[in-house]
Amino acid sequence: MTYQVIIPAAGLGKRMRAGKNKLLLELNGVPILVHTLRVFEEDEACDGVILAIHPQDTKEINRLLQKYQISKVSDLVPGGDERQHSIFNALKTVEADGIILVHDAARPFIQKIHIHRLTQKAEDTGAAIMGVPAKDTMKKQKDGVVVETVERSSLWAVQTPQAFRISLLKKAYQKAEEDKFLGTDDASLVERLDFPVSIVEGDYDNIKLTTPEDLYFAEAIIKKREK
Ligand code: CTP
Ligand code: MG
Repeated sequence: MTYQVIIPAAGLGKRMRAGKNKLLLELNGVPILVHTLRVFEEDEACDGVILAIHPQDTKEINRLLQKYQISKVSDLVPGGDERQHSIFNALKTVEADGIILVHDAARPFIQKIHIHRLTQKAEDTGAAIMGVPAKDTMKKQKDGVVVETVERSSLWAVQTPQAFRISLLKKAYQKAEEDKFLGTDDASLVERLDFPVSIVEGDYDNIKLTTPEDLYFAEAIIKKREK
């Protein structure tokens, strides 16, 4: 079982309000982006990383790759205006078939055991994502009034990585481009092909660092793992 991984890192991190790409902020003295890259650097099943970056971060990210001796980045591609465009730019550089993962650079706490469980599922089925059961009661609202209480047991919060057969993901991205469809994750593009997407249980620690308070949770996860 081997895979390649696309890591979109070309966002602006606006909601983090750090005045720069949030991925360059440090946790425990190491940039968030490097935490994420290290997981794949240290996974023997990972054959290569295609990293999508914003042109304004090129110099700094090249410096970090050298400093932290990240050797698995086979391609650095320019990001696009939307996450989906950044990933499509990266996907266009992938030639062979096999399994491709897409993993947000903003999720540094992903662990190998979950990557392997997901990759295995994608090898068996063609498309697999990971998520965790929703913990909160979920309601639909409109204009400040509850429309419906949604049955929680069927709801999962979906994370990255997501894993696909390369030929399938390319087809899904091509169709999305033709239809001008913009999804909030990669699986939604595959679902539009009526291809069944498997879902496996992920990890509540695998949070996406989005707003400033997420950094407190991140510090706590790091402390817990140091024990
Ligand atoms: N991303 C990307 N290209 C974009 C937008 C986002 O590669 N045009 C990446 C981000 O760098 C991040 C991941 O997609 O690793 C998930 O996006 P998000 O958490 O929304 O990050 P940002 O877009 O950077 O943050 P914000 O939406 O707050 O500006
Ligand atoms: Mg964003």
